[in-house]
Amino acid sequence: MADILRGDVVAQRLCHRVTAQVERMRAERGVVPGLAVILVGEDPPSEVYVRRKLAKAKQVGIRSFEHRLPAETGEAELLALIARLNSDAAVHGILVQLPLPEQISADKVLNAIDPDKDVDGFHPVNVGRLSTGGGGLVPCTPLGCMMLLDEVVSEFRGRQAVVIGKSNIVGKPVALLLLERECTVTVTHIHTVDLASIVRKADIVVVAAGAPRLVRGDWVKPGAVVIDVGITRVTSEDGRTRLVGDAAADEMDHAGVVTPVPGGVGPMTIACLLGNTIKAAQALTA
Ligand code: GUN
Repeated sequence: MADILRGDVVAQRLCHRVTAQVERMRAERGVVPGLAVILVGEDPPSEVYVRRKLAKAKQVGIRSFEHRLPAETGEAELLALIARLNSDAAVHGILVQLPLPEQISADKVLNAIDPDKDVDGFHPVNVGRLSTGGGGLVPCTPLGCMMLLDEVVSEFRGRQAVVIGKSNIVGKPVALLLLERECTVTVTHIHTVDLASIVRKADIVVVAAGAPRLVRGDWVKPGAVVIDVGITRVTSEDGRTRLVGDAAADEMDHAGVVTPVPGGVGPMTIACLLGNTIKAAQALTA
C-alpha cells in the first residue's frame, strides 16, 4: 500500500509554530492577533467548520471575534459589518464562511473585505497577486496542499501535476501554486474527456472535485503522490455514515503517497488559516 501522509500531524506542527509566533508578537510588541469569523445562517457543515476554526484559533492564542447572523440577514447589513471590521485595529483577519444565503452576493461581500485582512485569500486583489507571482494572502486549502507536498516531494521542477477540480477555492489557486514551483500543470474537472489517461501521466495528483471515489487505483501512476481534498458524507445501506474522499482509498496500492480522509487536507486548511492570520497581523502592525 501507499504511504499515508497524515495532515493532522503536519498541521499540529504548524500550529505549534503559530503558537510560538503569537507568543513572540505579544511579548515583543504587545500585539494579539485577532481573527473575525462571520457565519450567516445555519448550514450544518459550515457550523462544524466555523466551530473548529474558532477552537483552533483559541488554542494557539489568537483572539477571535465570532459574528453569527440569521439566515435572513440582508446584504447591506453584512457589508456594514465588514466595513466595521475593516477599520477595527484589533481585527487582523476577516473570514466570511461560504456558502452565503442566496439573497447575498458572495462576490460583493468578498470584494468588500480589506485585501490585507483577507485571510481566505479570496479577494480579487489577492487572486491577482497569486497569479502574478505572490506577495498576497494565499487561500488556505491550496496552501495546505502545498505544505503536504513539501513533506514528500523534493523536486517540483518539471514534474507532471494534474489538478482535478476548477473551483476558485481550491482547483484554480492550487494549479497556480504548482505552476509557480515549475511543475507542468494540467487542470481538469469532472467534464474532462478521458480523465483517467491524463491522471495516469501525473507524478502529483491534487483532487478537489467533490466526487467520492472519482480517482480509481488503476488511474494512478506507480509512485505518484495523491492529495485528496474531497470530503463527502456518504450513507451506506446499513444507515451508517462515513466521510469519503475523491480518491478510492482502498485502491491506492501502487501510489507512492496518499493523504487520508479525514485527517489529511482538512486539518491543514485550519492550520493555514491561523498562519495567514499571523501573516496579516505582522504586515498590518509592522
Ligand atoms: N467554505 C468552504 N470552504 C471554505 C473556505 O476555505 N473558506 C470559507 N470562508 N468558506 C468556505
